[in-house]
Amino acid sequence: ADLAHGKQIFQGNCNACHLGGRNTIMAPKTLKTDALTKYLKGFKEDSVAAVTYQVTNGKGAMPAFKGRLKPNDIEDVVAYVVDQADKW
Ligand code: HEM
Repeated sequence: ADLAHGKQIFQGNCNACHLGGRNTIMAPKTLKTDALTKYLKGFKEDSVAAVTYQVTNGKGAMPAFKGRLKPNDIEDVVAYVVDQADKW
């Protein structure tokens, strides 16, 4: 996966609600490892699969990106989010 491309996709599609790894709509549900472990189903077992599921299908106030992002874009933005989780 291409992390630099993933970062570009993130800035264009996710920053609106997740600037700096935060969550402007549901504050506790950040993109940091501790929050992902606590709130995102399956993250501990398979982080890539869990984030891919969330981005593809959305949840609550978060839109589904299936059909809005190409599969390759989803793959790269997921890799970026997983890589970045310990760095925010
Ligand atoms: C939750 C990623 C775009 C709103 C999450 C979570 C991830 C994620 C991994 C789980 C966080 C956790 O459980 O701690 C992304 C990515 C995006 C994106 C990669 C871009 C492709 C957006 C946008 C919005 C948004 C644009 C607002 C319009 C939310 C909300 C939640 C959430 C409200 C909590 C959902 C719930 O549990 O009810 N996001 N997100 N996200 N995101 Fe996003």
